[in-house]
Amino acid sequence: MGLILINVFLGVIIVVSLIILWFVWPPDSPWTPWWRTSRKKARAAAELAGISSEDLVYELGSGDATFLLTVAKEFGACGVGIEIDFIRHLTARLKVRIYNLGDKVTLKRGNFFDYNILKATVVFVYLVPRVLEKLKPKLFAELKKGARIISYKYKFEPDKKLKLIRSDAKNQLYLYQIF
Ligand SMILES: C[S@@+](CC[C@H](N)C(=O)[O-])C[C@H]1O[C@@H](n2cnc3c(N)ncnc32)[C@H](O)[C@@H]1O
Repeated sequence: MGLILINVFLGVIIVVSLIILWFVWPPDSPWTPWWRTSRKKARAAAELAGISSEDLVYELGSGDATFLLTVAKEFGACGVGIEIDFIRHLTARLKVRIYNLGDKVTLKRGNFFDYNILKATVVFVYLVPRVLEKLKPKLFAELKKGARIISYKYKFEPDKKLKLIRSDAKNQLYLYQIF
């Protein structure tokens, strides 16, 4: 009985520690907690950027692909998601299958720095400022002029090639355009 109680106690400690870790880990790490964009925020982001069926939307660090599924299902856009974390990539794949959106949403597993994003008309990111700054040279090198970038929660440092054109403060959404 005593041994069972010790095991239960240890189990509880481990679970609680994992939950705490889940929430304090930096959101740009591949082993991050489940920092994610809700469907409501995804909708607000798509409206802010005026996403339509004309757009090809890339999500860099696409997590469980809620954003891409929302823009595909509700706004008719096609999307490409790149996610480094295996579990999230798998979850996203499962969701794409469940919603039967495989013809609109493509998911790739890997580091988004290794993928070309040339074809994107819109890029969605939910990444910490340090990563946003690291991403800038890639955005400037690969995106066409006029491409829109939506950043959730975090802002890019001001830059003359990347202008903040609109924002939705309530939802912490920032819309940029490449100049
Ligand atoms: C804050 S979460 C946002 C997830 C998703 N974009 C959303 O809004 O629900 C950041 C995601 O980026 C992924 N990530 C971070 N660095 C990455 C990289 N270099 N390449 C691909 N994915 C990356 C993480 O694994 C994590 O799933």
